[in-house]
Amino acid sequence: MSHADDRSFRHGGMLVRVAADSRSVCLRAAELIEEAIRRALAARGRAVLGLATGSTPEVVYRRLVERHEAGALSFRDVTTYNLDEYYPISPLDPRSYRSYMHRHLFGRVDIAPHRAHLLDGTVPEPFAAEHAAQFERWIAADGGLDLQLLGIGRNGHIGFNEPSEVSIAEALRLPTRLVELHPVTRADAARDFGSEESVIPRALTMGVATILAARSIVILATGAHKAEVVAAALTGPMTAKIPASLLQSVAPKVTWILDEAAARGLSHYRFADR
Ligand code: F6R
Repeated sequence: MSHADDRSFRHGGMLVRVAADSRSVCLRAAELIEEAIRRALAARGRAVLGLATGSTPEVVYRRLVERHEAGALSFRDVTTYNLDEYYPISPLDPRSYRSYMHRHLFGRVDIAPHRAHLLDGTVPEPFAAEHAAQFERWIAADGGLDLQLLGIGRNGHIGFNEPSEVSIAEALRLPTRLVELHPVTRADAARDFGSEESVIPRALTMGVATILAARSIVILATGAHKAEVVAAALTGPMTAKIPASLLQSVAPKVTWILDEAAARGLSHYRFADR
């Protein structure tokens, strides 16, 4: 499907689409997800998606629900794995990503509950590492992720892979694991928790290695507050300090979808290598 108002170009081998506004970003992302589902169903009879939470993809899920309600899209043969979950947290806590996914998607489409996976915020801490390893084994047993949907934090995180000082080689190998949230992540999560002090400071996250292994990766960014980090991740050097820059290592399978505001820092590159 083509979009007259979309502009697209390649940077460092990654496809960058710039849409007029955040709604167009989300509609485009929903189309890519639907196309990935159809392609996987045609090839293997099942589709495996990696999903994100946060404010950016809400309209993506609303659109997928609309398509389902219109009879155009079924999740009957779709399996999903979410990027992350606070730790510890009950799945029934309205701030959990399990309940976010139930509100926005799982409770509104025909996905089989046992195929909608999130990391479990109730697993006892001594078993967290084994649970994370098991999550990766499930993804592998399902044949890997056909498409991973990502947002980007203001600090450049993907999932809850936070900025760090490790080498690029080490960052690229990061597995699914229990992590401490970065101060910027906690500040941004304050809107969901009432205050920064109330934000649960740890989380389980899919690892960088698991994300990069997906067959295709779609990363969304909307709003002026993302412009600086988008420019750094797309056009700066690869570094563990900006985890989204690690997507450059698998450039041909990455699509960025940005609104005008988030793309502002790319103005010099926009027409560079179309
Ligand atoms: C959410 C996730 C995070 C968000 C990122 C952007 O599952 O993994 O990396 O994608 O923090 O969040 P929003 O969309 O709220 O700006």
